[in-house]
Amino acid sequence: MCGIVGYIGNNEKKEILLDGLQELEYRGYDSAGIAIIENKQLKNFKAVGRLKNLREKTKDYSSEGFGVSIGHTRWATHGKPTELNAHPHMGAYSFVVHNGIIENYQALKKELQAEGAKFLSQTDTETIVHLFEKNHKINNNPNNTPWKAFQDTIKRLEGAYATLLITEADEQSIYFAKNGSPMLIGFKDNDIYFASSDTPIIGKATEVYYLEDGEFGYAHNGKLHLFNVDGQKKFTKQALATDKAMAQKDGYRFFMEKEIYEQSTVMNDTMMGRVLDGKIDFEELDPTLFDNISNIKICACGTSYHSALASSYLFERLAKIPCQIEIASEFRYKEPLLRDDTLFITISQSGETADTLEALKMAKRAGLKSLSICNVDNSSIVRESDAAVLTRAGIEKGVASTKAFATQTMVLWMLAIYVAQAKKTISKEVLEIELLAMRQTPKALLVKEELHSKMTRLSKRYLHGHGFFFIGRDLFFPLALEGALKLKEISYLHAEGYPSGEMKHGPIALADAELFTIALMPKSLHYDKIKSNVEELCARDVTLLAISPEAFDLADDFVQTTYSSHPMLEFFEMMVVTQLLALEISVRLGNDVDMPRNLAKSVTVE
Ligand code: M6R
Repeated sequence: MCGIVGYIGNNEKKEILLDGLQELEYRGYDSAGIAIIENKQLKNFKAVGRLKNLREKTKDYSSEGFGVSIGHTRWATHGKPTELNAHPHMGAYSFVVHNGIIENYQALKKELQAEGAKFLSQTDTETIVHLFEKNHKINNNPNNTPWKAFQDTIKRLEGAYATLLITEADEQSIYFAKNGSPMLIGFKDNDIYFASSDTPIIGKATEVYYLEDGEFGYAHNGKLHLFNVDGQKKFTKQALATDKAMAQKDGYRFFMEKEIYEQSTVMNDTMMGRVLDGKIDFEELDPTLFDNISNIKICACGTSYHSALASSYLFERLAKIPCQIEIASEFRYKEPLLRDDTLFITISQSGETADTLEALKMAKRAGLKSLSICNVDNSSIVRESDAAVLTRAGIEKGVASTKAFATQTMVLWMLAIYVAQAKKTISKEVLEIELLAMRQTPKALLVKEELHSKMTRLSKRYLHGHGFFFIGRDLFFPLALEGALKLKEISYLHAEGYPSGEMKHGPIALADAELFTIALMPKSLHYDKIKSNVEELCARDVTLLAISPEAFDLADDFVQTTYSSHPMLEFFEMMVVTQLLALEISVRLGNDVDMPRNLAKSVTVE
């Protein structure tokens, strides 16, 4: 849950590291640090808080000539966000950065402390550098090179890690290892870069190698030496993407705002080559993937879980295939009974979510076929899956997911139709209706100026109270969950999503004028049912914001959406309304919309 960068070469290193960390700040931003060795000089800077604090601290420093350098932006797992707990962590003559969790760190720490190691931080990471130096010192053996010491260190680590180590004992190398956390290596001429994702090195490196779990090695003299458990490995570099423009704000106030507005256009990319005349096609999928499959299980976390939940209605309704949805962190430990006629689908924006990745590995170990729906090509989840469908949302920078949710839902909708086609559970007429609705989705996602200003105006009435209930039925229940998650993530107000029919089974006890209810009331799906649920709430005097194509007299506030006979079009339009509501409430509360407190974009720890 952190970002790491590294660089070995002749260019000025401080700026390379800081620029790279800036790109990774979404992965964690409670402290940051860098360490550089050049001309036999070791320099280390750390600062608590956002990266700008580290920039300020290092403003009078610049590095000249050949050297090795590592940097880190942290999201605290072990130990508070203090300078001592910030990476890089220091031994007597070496520095380490790490992303992940060393699960056996307490046993290692005890052992090292008993032998005299002095720990400065409360982190699991610091054990790596002390273990390395201990291994290096053992016996003063001339064969005991830093490289050997590093290998011996890695062998003792349990858990997830991507780690970089530099040492005065070998000033010309960066040592690296990856197991379970992301890391890639960029190349240009004799320069070598390391990073947790490719944005920090776009524009700097021209080629890239995405490390696999269990790989480790060192970079030295413009060359990469790569190993795994079988020994030295050959590897093939690939061309690195060059377009970082998509990741800039384009004049919007926040990345999240830009990403809400982008949904309409990226949806075209999501559908391109897939929504065809008279059918859905995924050329990346081998049709035999669905052979002997009579059940679907989907595993995901957070927003991705909500898109999965929405899709379960579509898989069962359209493809007539049983579909169960699981929260990945629960799935991992429930000792699930897995049948080999089940297709195991994981959904993830980042492709690096530790719980989802681990659930996928479990399913694979049980012999299930796997498919991932992901926004990041070459991510760990994509590489681990038998097959993958990319959502093509472009880089999503706002921690609160928006366009990832929209595109995941679209891919799942297309997939439901694809399975329905294969299983012949869909008539030609219904197929045509679905394809037409899909083509109209970009329009349903357009953010109208009047709507945005209305949400800005309305938001001032929803800054207090004792909580929000987002309610909906059927497909609109997962959307209610997602609306509530968006709001709580960036406003820090308490919000829950509920199936509206469930309110009378308990939650309605909370109803009073200070309970804000956001009711999703589509005309195309169970309108009368949800209407009576909402009336029950109004009778208890809740403050109601109704979102519907149909005017609703009892509403305190009303947002009129477009009527469509297809629920998915109503779904996407209402999704935008809930996203704008969360955004504008957060802005009024003065919160950091793109990097809300306590959260990170990519959750690579359990
Ligand atoms: O990258 P993933 O889709 O696997 O991430 C899963 C969740 O961590 C993520 O959706 C999270 O809930 C977002 N902050 C939601 O806005």
